[in-house]
Amino acid sequence: MSVLLKKTKEIEKNNLPAHIAIIMDGNGRWAKKRGNIRLLGHKKGVDTVNEIVTAAAELGIQYLTLYAFSTENWSRPKDEVFGLMDLLVTALENNLKKIQQNNVVLRTIGDLNALPPKTRAKLSDACENTKNNTGLNLVLALSYSARWEITNMVKSIAQDCIDGKISVENIDNTIINSHLCTREIPDPELLIRTSGEYRISNFLLWQIAYTELYFTETLWPDFTKEEFLNAIADFQNRERRFGKTGEQVRN
Ligand code: FPP
Repeated sequence: MSVLLKKTKEIEKNNLPAHIAIIMDGNGRWAKKRGNIRLLGHKKGVDTVNEIVTAAAELGIQYLTLYAFSTENWSRPKDEVFGLMDLLVTALENNLKKIQQNNVVLRTIGDLNALPPKTRAKLSDACENTKNNTGLNLVLALSYSARWEITNMVKSIAQDCIDGKISVENIDNTIINSHLCTREIPDPELLIRTSGEYRISNFLLWQIAYTELYFTETLWPDFTKEEFLNAIADFQNRERRFGKTGEQVRN
C-alpha cells in the first residue's frame, strides 16, 4: 500500500523506518527573525512536535526519538532553560489526552535526575499513564548527550567486570547495547536535522552507526508533516549497504 503525497513522492507503507530520530533545531532563529524572544520559537516548536507525532503515529512508525534538551543546553541563559522546563510541563498537560488517543507510549532517555522536580514528576506520570499503549513509542531525549550515555555505559560494564558478572573478552555489541539508555529500542534508521546545521551534536552517537541522515534548511517551527513524509520517501530511495557492496545487497 502507498500514500500519495500532495506535493511530492509516494511512501511505501511496507518499507517504513522503524525508528526515526529528530534533532529539532532552529527555534531560536525562527523567533529572532520575527523580533521575538527565543522561548516563543520553542513554543511554536511544540506545535510542530504535535504535528509530527500525530503524523508518525498515523503512519505506523514504531519509534520516534526527539532531541528535546541536551546536556549542553543547561549552559543556556537561565530564563530559557527554565522556560523550556515549564514548556515541557505545559505541553504534557495540554497534550496527554491526544497522546492517549493516538495510542502513544511516552518514554524518556537522559539524566532525568537533573530535571526540576515538577518536570520530572509530570514526565514520570505521563510515562506511567501511557505504558500500556501499543502504538508509536515517543522517546524524549532530555538532559541527554551521547558522551554522557557512553561514559555511563563504560562505568557500568567496568563494574560488571569487577563484580565478575562478565569477562572483558565477552564484551561485544550486544553487551554494550544492553548498557545504553536505548537498550530496549532499535537503532534509528533515519535521522532528521532541521535548520541547515550539518552536525550530530552529541546525539545517539553509538546508535547511528548505519542511520540514514536527512538534513533540511527548514527551521523546526516551520517543519511540516509534508516535509516529514518527504524525508521518509527520501529514505526509501536510499540503498542501505551496511558495509557490503551494492551487488551484495541487491542479490
Ligand atoms: C533547538 O533550537 C531546540 C531546542 C534546544 C529545544 C527543543 C524543544 C522543543 C521543540 C520544545 C519542547 C519539546 C517537547 C518534546 C514538548 P535552538 O534553540 O538551538 O535554535 P537556534 O539554533 O535557532 O538558536
